[in-house]
Amino acid sequence: MSEQAIGVFDSGLGGLTAVKELIKVLPQENIIYFGDTARVPYGTRSDKTIKVYARQDADFLLSKGVKLIIAACGTVSSVATELYEDLPVPFTGVVIPTATAAVRATKNGRIGIIGTPATVKSSSYKKEILRQDDRITVYQQACPLFVPLVENGFISADDPIVQLTVERYLSEMKAAGIDTLILGCTHFPIIAEAISNYLGKGVTLIDSGKETALYAANILGNKGLLNNSNTLGNCKYYVSDTVEGFRKTADVFLGKSVEYEAAHINVEHLIKKTQS
Ligand code: DGL
Repeated sequence: MSEQAIGVFDSGLGGLTAVKELIKVLPQENIIYFGDTARVPYGTRSDKTIKVYARQDADFLLSKGVKLIIAACGTVSSVATELYEDLPVPFTGVVIPTATAAVRATKNGRIGIIGTPATVKSSSYKKEILRQDDRITVYQQACPLFVPLVENGFISADDPIVQLTVERYLSEMKAAGIDTLILGCTHFPIIAEAISNYLGKGVTLIDSGKETALYAANILGNKGLLNNSNTLGNCKYYVSDTVEGFRKTADVFLGKSVEYEAAHINVEHLIKKTQS
């Protein structure tokens, strides 16, 4: 069991920010990633659609025999919560690990949350923060333009389009004096520099991918599922759109030095599996 892969999925390539951290935290683990690049974005879709897509994504990873599933997607983690109860292997989304890190980080009790419209509408991070500490004041903002900016390579902190968009979305939270900001979508760490430049050094940014990688390592440790081999793990990536598209953008999320093997999976195949 311990040599089986960890399964990670996202609506697109944002979840690779979690994979990058997983490779750092658990270098010996095998990883299978599925990015539903043919159907991204999820964050502007209805709850019903997001739940169906999430189930299909998880089923694909289960068909690969994974020992743990990580929904490295703020939207799926916020909306498809019944996945937690329904899977034959351990599962984590990004909400609990990220909210826990934010509660630990804040000193002034003012936490900002940014995510996709579906994530913010669900108030998932807010509910989890208040469950842990009801004295905290939470500010939420949906940032739908961040995902297409990142997917299209508008990521430089010097780019005026990025700067303007950051300012438009974050000015109210800045004025409210937050000292901690949850990057509640796995695409957002890619523009963390622009966000940090705007908010200033006094605001701690919480990266959902990083916190979730640490949390997943704990789950595996507690369940005796860690791969104790001495060799480096292997990562295999599947996408529902073209592999060429994946190759163009993946470096931005994974970091240039990562070697990878990528393959296409037909989204029709995922749909048929859920219907049968
Ligand atoms: N990576 C997804 C998330 O974390 C955002 C992209 C999307 O809207 O599908 O919410």
